[in-house]
Amino acid sequence: MLLEILLSLSAAVLALPSTHLDAHQLERRVNNGLGKTPALGWNSWNIGGCAYASEKAALDTGKLFVSLGLKDLGYQYVNIDDCWSTKNRDSSGNLVPDPSKFPRGMKAVTDDLHNMGLKFGLYGCAGTQTCAGYPASQGKETQDAKKLADWGVDYWKHDNCYTPCNNGNPQTCGSPKGNSSTYYKTFSNALLGSGRPILFSLCNWGRDNVWAWGAGFGNSWRMSTDIQNNWGSVASIAAQAAPIAQYAGPGGFNDLDMMQIGNNGLSENEERAHMGIWAIAKSPIILGTDLAKIRSSSLNIIKNKAILAINQDPLGKAATYFTPAGKSKPQNGKLYPYWTGPLTDGVVIGVVAADGAATLSFNFGDVPGLDATKTYNWTEAWTGTTGSGKAVSTNLGSHDMRVYRLKTA
Ligand code: GAL
Repeated sequence: MLLEILLSLSAAVLALPSTHLDAHQLERRVNNGLGKTPALGWNSWNIGGCAYASEKAALDTGKLFVSLGLKDLGYQYVNIDDCWSTKNRDSSGNLVPDPSKFPRGMKAVTDDLHNMGLKFGLYGCAGTQTCAGYPASQGKETQDAKKLADWGVDYWKHDNCYTPCNNGNPQTCGSPKGNSSTYYKTFSNALLGSGRPILFSLCNWGRDNVWAWGAGFGNSWRMSTDIQNNWGSVASIAAQAAPIAQYAGPGGFNDLDMMQIGNNGLSENEERAHMGIWAIAKSPIILGTDLAKIRSSSLNIIKNKAILAINQDPLGKAATYFTPAGKSKPQNGKLYPYWTGPLTDGVVIGVVAADGAATLSFNFGDVPGLDATKTYNWTEAWTGTTGSGKAVSTNLGSHDMRVYRLKTA
């Protein structure tokens, strides 16, 4: 009898793991009501570092969000990265917007963006200085978070430079003291106590297994070092994201870093794959280019409705690798062609020509959760092509991507 009870209990526990995990993960998600789907926006850093940290860049971008139709597609955060403040705090210890870059202060900028129906984000850092050497929040967390709330800031990216080190205080500490989760927790609490809902974007470059605890403090967490303007960097970040897909969920997402689309370092195919992978991995999509100069092929990529709908699917589950029958298995750190993940009403399947031009094929039966005996109807997001069958085969140019959406419900 006892044995029977034990067996049925363990069967019940074994049957539970996925729902149990979900409930647990949701429980420890930061309770700021924000970021239920990945953030869509723009940030000043990838274009030209400090050069775009200005009122002009923020408001020009806001206007372009409206005139290019990006706002209507859901892009809403206009974010200024490092270099927006003066080099010193004021006599009361407040951060001060640099008057040469923000001549009307911050509140005027947030007001203007809010009047356009948009939101405004700023950048800071957990250590004593930002990465570019501006004042940062260590020891001033409560005061800084209150100031952001006064200004009407909606999004805060918190970087990891000049935090305590075992070997001095270099810019990016090679030997950090303790675990960066302590700084992120402190700032998360400061934001929660600031009186304004402010989306919290963690940027500790994937240190300390941030994906395992980031959701408790913030709405997204960078899971890698900085993206560079080349395919190798895009592919490497994508490969690091696949094995941590399970940590993404409504309210907290793996952040694969800001987009390089439009910055002339990627081919059109590569820009499609960059956007497609970020979308299905449920990364925030934070554009990083000068929208006044963007070419039409890049604009079409960032405006693809079907891709954005997959990224913004309310289920918030990220895609990861699957291995079609007969294909070699993924290798650690190397981009693999086959991706899949659940959507509210079905499944997304992404295929990337990771190693150059290729014919990529799979059976729907290879995809976890799909039935090999069934025929599925699909729509491909980049081409708009539709089809029906038990398998797909597609010819792709080097580094191009296709994204199939199947409804199962
Ligand atoms: C890096 C961060 C970048 C950018 C830069 C600014 O640490 O990862 O995204 O914010 O600092 O100095």
